[in-house]
Amino acid sequence: MHKSFDLYFVSSNVHKYQEAKTILGSLGIDLGFLKSNLGEIQSNSLRNIAMAKARDAFSKFKRPVIIEDDGLFIDSIGGFPGPYSSYVFKTIGNRGILDLLKNSRGANFVSIITYCDKTTLQSFEGKLDGKISKTQKGKGWGYDPIFIPNNSVKTFAEMNNKNELSHRFKALKKFSRWYLHKWE
Ligand code: IMP
Repeated sequence: MHKSFDLYFVSSNVHKYQEAKTILGSLGIDLGFLKSNLGEIQSNSLRNIAMAKARDAFSKFKRPVIIEDDGLFIDSIGGFPGPYSSYVFKTIGNRGILDLLKNSRGANFVSIITYCDKTTLQSFEGKLDGKISKTQKGKGWGYDPIFIPNNSVKTFAEMNNKNELSHRFKALKKFSRWYLHKWE
């Protein structure tokens, strides 16, 4: 029989779940996984996308859930790909992004974690400043091989402590403070 959880992460991306489980585990919250492709609305706001996804997840599973929506915002190209990060990764990928960038390489990674249950819908944001590397370095999922956090010389893919400082960590830390307090 499957173990049941008080809280589930709903996503089609198992990498995100594994990182979220490790991070929340270290903050005292046990996280289950429901693999599902949630509908994404078109919007310029990660928060609006995340809230719509969270409502969709709750209406599908009728259990307390969190979902995540992320974006990689590159300064020199007006914050692109931002809310379109998933589409851009699937189309031009890391190679295409490296080709677009000539000079300025500043960027930031944003994670929105949204919680939804019968009565509550609440979002938490984590932002990490950094830059885009000149070449792909290390083996990792998604944009990990091209994102270098500030104060680091390594890409996410080369680091062994990504989960202690990532955009995901920052959003989940805020979420955990709120979630643990909710039950006091
Ligand atoms: P999504 O729309 O929330 O799934 O994420 C937007 C894009 O950013 C997707 O292509 C993800 O694979 C990518 N992404 C989000 N977080 C990370 C990360 O921590 N490392 C690498 N890529 C990421």
